[in-house]
Amino acid sequence: MLIRRESPDDVPTVRAVTAAAFTGVPHSAPAVEPDGVPGEASLVGWLRADPGWVPELSLVAESAGIVVGHVVCTRGSLAGAPALGLGPLSVIPAHQGRGAGSALVHAVLGAADALDWPLVVLLGDPAYYGRFGFVPALGLGVEAPDASWGDHFQARPLTAYDDSLRGVFTYAEPFGRL
Ligand SMILES: CC(C)(COP(=O)(O)OP(=O)(O)OC[C@H]1O[C@@H](n2cnc3c(N)ncnc32)[C@H](O)[C@@H]1OP(=O)(O)O)[C@@H](O)C(=O)NCCC(=O)NCCS
Repeated sequence: MLIRRESPDDVPTVRAVTAAAFTGVPHSAPAVEPDGVPGEASLVGWLRADPGWVPELSLVAESAGIVVGHVVCTRGSLAGAPALGLGPLSVIPAHQGRGAGSALVHAVLGAADALDWPLVVLLGDPAYYGRFGFVPALGLGVEAPDASWGDHFQARPLTAYDDSLRGVFTYAEPFGRL
């Protein structure tokens, strides 16, 4: 499996991969486009056109020349300071459970660290993301945009982190459209 940056040719495939990954998933966002794709597939497209898009942090997983997964981190704001929000993270159903999701998360965290981002947050299952060093964000003084997310709002400090980075996290604007 190869993890690499998204290229312009990947854009339609990334949409299809995101749609396939989130179709039928209980917590997926409702469709907002006429073609009925899950909201997460629309979100990736909106993010690509948003100032919060960080091209270095949109990665695909390729297996035998086929894109089977995608991850993106976008710029958000933590009490006015820049920080990253991770997601959507998608692996097509036929390739799930073979390590693509883990490879994508490790790769995007390594890239974010190398680029001197201080912190990555996400909304997800602690049972999955704990293995990548994510901890409940509130323990670091980082608050979710929605307090009801509880321990599912997690944060991963990177090398450039210091504990003055606290407050309410705001995602890139397109997240609010879902
Ligand atoms: C979540 C997802 C990206 C994981 O990708 P993947 O390639 O299947 O993951 P990996 O093969 O690297 O890891 C599989 C491991 O993660 C676990 N796992 C996968 N999804 C999980 C979840 N939602 N909660 C807890 N554990 C999960 C598996 O049980 C497995 O555990 P094990 O290593 O202890 O056996 C993929 O299942 C997916 O696209 N799901 C639908 C979309 C989605 O929910 N995205 C994440 C939103 S936060």
